[in-house]
Amino acid sequence: MSRMVFVNGEYVPEEAARVSVFDRGFLFADGVYEVVSVLGGKLVDFAGHMARLRRSLGALDMEMPMAEAEFLATHRDLVARNALDEGMVYTQVTRGAADRDFLFPPEGTPLSVVSFTQAAALVDKPAARRGIRIITQPDIRWGRRDIKTVQLLAASMCKMAAKKAGKDDAWMVEDGFVTEGTSNNAYVVAGGSIITRDLSHSILHGITRAAVLRLAREARMTLEERAFTVEEAKAADEAFVTSASSFVTPVIEIDGLPVGSGAPGPVAARLREIYIADARASAV
Ligand code: PDD
Repeated sequence: MSRMVFVNGEYVPEEAARVSVFDRGFLFADGVYEVVSVLGGKLVDFAGHMARLRRSLGALDMEMPMAEAEFLATHRDLVARNALDEGMVYTQVTRGAADRDFLFPPEGTPLSVVSFTQAAALVDKPAARRGIRIITQPDIRWGRRDIKTVQLLAASMCKMAAKKAGKDDAWMVEDGFVTEGTSNNAYVVAGGSIITRDLSHSILHGITRAAVLRLAREARMTLEERAFTVEEAKAADEAFVTSASSFVTPVIEIDGLPVGSGAPGPVAARLREIYIADARASAV
């Protein structure tokens, strides 16, 4: 049976799922997205993802195309129709189809809404057990990285550079400071403190980041929300990344140099464990 996809109010088999060639997501990357992880057939941090979707749309003068309850129903329908136990639901909202024009289309042009599932093992993952190797790359993205837009080419190029170098991912760097990973937030552990970049227009405000920082605070771990340099990361005791698809994943090498002992560290392991337990318990 083929995967069922949600396209503008209808559930259709993926082969039949279509959007217009005039869609502004296609022509201008004029759209935003969310990735919600699914554990045991339930949605992790759904409310947080919806809050960020609303914020991303608002920053681009778009409104929520459906009520949050409808998004929840759609997500649950897709999970059920595709018998998804573990993986993600991807949702994209664009400014819709209109004649190509740098001006936004007339008011009332319907936004496009597409959602689909992706099955994936998220908990039992080799990358989480052995850690990932990363390289650093210049951050050539635009100045509003806090808006989760579909313009992901720069991040995709960084990830390809990592692959060509035989590594797993890249951390993007601006003025000597790490901004974030290609599709995750970046952290180091040094001097007993967990350090991650503070929220601004420079990085995506990760939903997993918010949950992990809350859990770290509850576990009385020491946190510093500030920018850190590549040198600091290379000298750190541990490093890790967080996202809806990777949860908490240790980084064991940066630009060919081992981080700490070169093996996944205890702080990342503990945070991964408590994050997954909390995500399972609070999923809807
Ligand atoms: N990416 N930073 C960037 C640039 C991201 O693309 C992501 C998520 C994150 C982490 O955000 P969250 O914890 O809300 O997933 C940080 C998703 C998973 C993706 O593009 O597939």
